[in-house]
Amino acid sequence: MIALDDLGRLGKTSNIDYAQEILRLKKELNAIILAHYYQESEIQDLADFIGDSLELSRRASETKAEVIVFAGVHFMAETAKILSPNKQVLLPDLNAGCSLAEGCPASLFKQFRAQHPDHISITYINCSAEVKAASDIICTSSSAEKIIRQIPDDKPIFFAPDRNLGRYLIKKTGRDMLLWEGSCVVHETFSMRKLISLQLEHPKAELIAHPECEEPLLEKASFIGSTSGLLKYVQGFKGKEFIVATEPGILHQMEKYAPSNTYIPLPPEAACSCNECPYMKLNTMEKLYLCMRDRSPEITLAADIIAKALVPIQRMMEMSK
Ligand code: 13P
Ligand code: SF4
Repeated sequence: MIALDDLGRLGKTSNIDYAQEILRLKKELNAIILAHYYQESEIQDLADFIGDSLELSRRASETKAEVIVFAGVHFMAETAKILSPNKQVLLPDLNAGCSLAEGCPASLFKQFRAQHPDHISITYINCSAEVKAASDIICTSSSAEKIIRQIPDDKPIFFAPDRNLGRYLIKKTGRDMLLWEGSCVVHETFSMRKLISLQLEHPKAELIAHPECEEPLLEKASFIGSTSGLLKYVQGFKGKEFIVATEPGILHQMEKYAPSNTYIPLPPEAACSCNECPYMKLNTMEKLYLCMRDRSPEITLAADIIAKALVPIQRMMEMSK
């Protein structure tokens, strides 16, 4: 069967072994495949490296490969391009966005900054390259606390775009910050009602959560961390039950590295799969294969945006060492 994908590319044939073809193309292109934990399991299994946003950025800046194939979302691939501007960066689906990045348009972000000229801006990496270019320091969920603690006490901080992560960091560091009102569609969907019934059913289960979750849920969590932080945490236990409040893609590595534990993904309120990131899941094995075959879609950014956005990203790299 031959069909056009949603980019109008001729490609799908029922007899293609995507995994085999992807590995062949990887050699041919001298490419590295970087994948986020929220990608589907088959993609994670093919990747050269799987990590959280900070680790993926580090890998993108260090790689000797000529082509970076980014199995993640748009802002992650843009960050890779900013860090490795001379490499070709491919993203299987250009529509793989992020609700946090979409909720923080560069024009409004710049306007807000102009209204608060005394504030230093610490911006979560889940934003566009243009927003990064207008920021002072970038952070990820695994580096934010360390970065905030290095800002002199008398310097007011503006934190964007995730209000939940922002509130969590205010509590953790005791630092007051001006917050942008953005949120992640996935981490806001978890149901407190279903959490309570799960806890009744599994009284020994520990709730672990990503800091993008809302405050009432975070208050009930025994551990809060980035995707890598959560993965590392569960590896310290054997035969334990965990209720996991983040995108369920992470369960694949948890089951691989700490198989004796039981992982229960926290469900959303409605009878839907809204706890899966709709953007991350746009990437499929077929699209991964096609983007490598066609060397497209490719991330391109204006040179001035790359130069400006690199400065706050490098500050993050330095401050998170
Ligand atoms: P991590 O940096 O923890 O992997 O988070 C990325 C993300 O988009 C979470 O929703
Ligand atoms: Fe963005 Fe949320 Fe998806 Fe992460 S899970 S990429 S924050 S929409």
